[in-house]
Amino acid sequence: MTLRLVVPKETWTGERRVALDPSVAERFQRLGAEVQIERGAGCGSHFGDAQYEKGAKLVDDIVAALAAADVTVRVQPPSLEEVEQLRDGSVLIGFLAPHRNAEVIRRLRDKKITSFAFELLPRISRAQSMDALSSQAAIAGYKVALMAASLASFFFPMLTTAAGTIRPAKVVVVGAGVAGLQAIATCKRLGAMVEAYDIRAAAKEQVESLGAKLIDTGVDASGQGGYARELTKEEIARQAEVLARHIAAASAVITTAAIPGRPAPKIVTKAMVEAMKPGAVIVDLAAETGGNCELTEPGQTIEHNDVTIHGPLNVPSLIPVHASETYAKNVFNFLSPFVKNGELALDWNDEVVAKTCLTHDGQIRHEPTRKLVG
Ligand code: NAI
Repeated sequence: MTLRLVVPKETWTGERRVALDPSVAERFQRLGAEVQIERGAGCGSHFGDAQYEKGAKLVDDIVAALAAADVTVRVQPPSLEEVEQLRDGSVLIGFLAPHRNAEVIRRLRDKKITSFAFELLPRISRAQSMDALSSQAAIAGYKVALMAASLASFFFPMLTTAAGTIRPAKVVVVGAGVAGLQAIATCKRLGAMVEAYDIRAAAKEQVESLGAKLIDTGVDASGQGGYARELTKEEIARQAEVLARHIAAASAVITTAAIPGRPAPKIVTKAMVEAMKPGAVIVDLAAETGGNCELTEPGQTIEHNDVTIHGPLNVPSLIPVHASETYAKNVFNFLSPFVKNGELALDWNDEVVAKTCLTHDGQIRHEPTRKLVG
């Protein structure tokens, strides 16, 4: 039986991405799969229906298509209602936000859906080409740098004019992971002087390789799998003391610090904001998980003491063409090794398959989520 791969239109408010772009749909088709895409699913990413015609079948009745799907590919987690539309025992791939989606995951389990959550993809070299968290974070990092440049009341590069010289802006990037490093690179390209801060010791080399300076607070909190761990109270106090001086001198602060599965660590306090220069800006990419700044209002742009605090949500979706194209490639790289002669044959001995799997055969396979769901 030919593998039927179905792509519904994303339904989250403001979501513009699509899980497969036309060229990746075609690549799946060349492997012998039948790709079905909901009419209009690519519009938010500027992929018109006509562009899909070569590699996919456009469907009007998505409920019927999902009821017969072998694999459903999405970007955002499904709602409970959307889980009900999935065929029992079929496969689902996407971001599933396991730590804040208990009810949906319970239903996926009970419907014996084999679900793969990109949040669980192991961070090993072989899986880099499938790493949707990284591909989307890089896009977000670029965009938040542009937001900071656009919202700040200061010029980023040095400017020499007949009337005098403007010194380059100082930008502080907090959190030098995938998004932070891309924000650093973008601010450097715009000519700013960039300082960065992270609690993983490995960040130093990465920050310096981009020409930025690392703010050293003496705190190292490298955790498992390349991620950071939560800080102790003493470490937080130490961090705050050193960071406050650098933030006070900045024209823009970009915050991207995160701990997987946890609310964003609060790093920029109200007092730090109040010590900032009038006209400066904070762009808080961590707004999605509560924000790195105490004053961030997710999804809002506010002013406090003449400082702008911007808390954008779903930033990758603001660059939908490249976000969708890279996401689709991640999906292809994850799934295609197991598509043989138009059929899906998952290899459960493969570390990437086994670790990315959230639910399978009526079980929750990811232990922390199993505990959470109960
Ligand atoms: P993330 O999105 O979970 O966190 C962003 C950054 O915030 C991290 O660098 C983290 O150390 C930092 N952070 C957390 N708490 C903080 C605090 N209190 N103060 C300051 N910074 C704080 O992480 P992301 O960006 O997804 O990845 C982190 C690292 O993982 C990457 O820089 C890279 O070294 C590694 N990685 C490895 C991959 C691989 O395939 N080997 C793929 C992708 C990332």
